[in-house]
Amino acid sequence: MITGKTKITGVIGHPIEHSMSPPMHNNAYKQLNMDYVYVAFHVQPENIEKLINSSKTLDIKGLNVTIPHKTTIIPYLDEIDETAEKIGAVNTIQFKNGIAKGYNTDGIGAIKSIQEHTTLQDKNILIIGAGGASKAISFTLINENINSLTIANRSQNNAENLINNIKKQTEFTNINYQQINNVDEILNQTDIIINTTPIGMYPNHQVKPPIKTDNINNKHVVMDIIYNPLETQLLKQAKENGATTINGTSMLINQGLESFKIFTGKEATYESFEEALLGQLKK
Ligand SMILES: NC(=O)c1ccc[n+]([C@@H]2O[C@H](COP(=O)([O-])OP(=O)(O)OC[C@H]3O[C@@H](n4cnc5c(N)ncnc54)[C@H](OP(=O)(O)O)[C@@H]3O)[C@@H](O)[C@H]2O)c1
Repeated sequence: MITGKTKITGVIGHPIEHSMSPPMHNNAYKQLNMDYVYVAFHVQPENIEKLINSSKTLDIKGLNVTIPHKTTIIPYLDEIDETAEKIGAVNTIQFKNGIAKGYNTDGIGAIKSIQEHTTLQDKNILIIGAGGASKAISFTLINENINSLTIANRSQNNAENLINNIKKQTEFTNINYQQINNVDEILNQTDIIINTTPIGMYPNHQVKPPIKTDNINNKHVVMDIIYNPLETQLLKQAKENGATTINGTSMLINQGLESFKIFTGKEATYESFEEALLGQLKK
């Protein structure tokens, strides 16, 4: 029951109605018997400047941030975590003692999901896409003692911007660009493949995968961060070729669990988030 003591958390976005975060967080609050609520707030881009002060006024404890506010919110924060600053995007804001601090849990969410299946040390990793999710995953992955990172993307320019940013801001240098149409040439030197493009997402789930899959085999781990459908064409074909596959639900759950910890100082169970998410996706 919502009482006078209930603490407020939530997510801001535009649009926001389809966010999977409210059911996941609220299910965890319920199972842990915590007097918290998680609400979706539709915030127009022109109102982003007022958001931080309004949240402090209302004593909101934490907010997730989604499209299109992940970058534009940054100038209004009091503090920003080092990795989020390098990524240039925030998906989690903690409000504590009057300070609004931004974090990015997307990268750590992806890494935890991969680590449920394999190790990252000395691995050669291929990321398809160079947008927001790719940035978050790339900047987080390079702290995990990987051997190499290759970025394949439709626009070479966007991939090269990301590569140059990483080289400028970190000490990681074994990072290269590969044309998206030619990635099969490097698959025999690749251990882990991560799709961060929306290719294959519902309602366009029947389209061809973003890369040729003939050379994917049982030595590969393939993650698609798309969670609807649960099995994209890329994952389906990779699985048929014997690869280990990971769908986007685990990244979504793990990034949410990290945000939950930042908001409340408590750990929610993976199962409480998963149960709520799969329930929503079935609808
Ligand atoms: N599971 C999770 O927790 C999670 C978290 C975040 C995002 N996601 C999913 O990840 C996907 C990407 O999100 P984002 O925020 O990174 O988006 P974004 O910033 O818009 O980046 C999209 C990337 O995909 C490429 N792309 C888009 N359409 C393409 C097409 N038709 N053909 C080839 N390349 C194309 C873009 O290439 P160009 O550079 O050439 O434009 C860009 O590199 C979405 O499907 C989103 O739902 C999942």
